[in-house]
Amino acid sequence: MAILEILKYPDPRLKKVALPVRDFSAKTVQLVSDMLDTMYAAPGVGLAAPQVGVSQRVVVLDTDHENPGKQVLKLINPVITHAEGEVIWEEGCLSVVEFTADVKRAAQVQVKAFDEHEREIKIEADGLLAVALQHEIDHLDGKLFIDRISRLKRELYTRKRIKSLRNGDEPSHEPARVMI
Ligand code: NI
Repeated sequence: MAILEILKYPDPRLKKVALPVRDFSAKTVQLVSDMLDTMYAAPGVGLAAPQVGVSQRVVVLDTDHENPGKQVLKLINPVITHAEGEVIWEEGCLSVVEFTADVKRAAQVQVKAFDEHEREIKIEADGLLAVALQHEIDHLDGKLFIDRISRLKRELYTRKRIKSLRNGDEPSHEPARVMI
């Protein structure tokens, strides 16, 4: 079991576009396992490799709060193949401390990916899982949910965040909510 450090905005590594996984090795299996440990410990319902400083297209998700561990998704090189509808969801992120905002996303998505053993997976999702899939795939493209809110809101948050980093404020304990 390994719990990795989760990078926090404005760490520049969160802005990098992650590279596809080309060789599925024991290292990939280990990364997925460490990311799951890190996600559950946070706690969160989704985590993308760039959030732990690994620039690879790897995502883990478990959006079923009631039965943790039963609906685990391990996605390598995920791609959205279809998106439709619209939903506004209040998002939070393990890499964006002390902030949530309403974000507009597709309401339903279809995603194609591989698991860590290079088996193809197809997912059809709506609700929280659809939102979480889009949020995590954004991480792979160097995007955070705050890149999808108004510039004014983003700048207010950035200013507050930089000020508290400068003052050395410890982030207060995260309130209980869904972190993706
Ligand atoms: Ni996130």
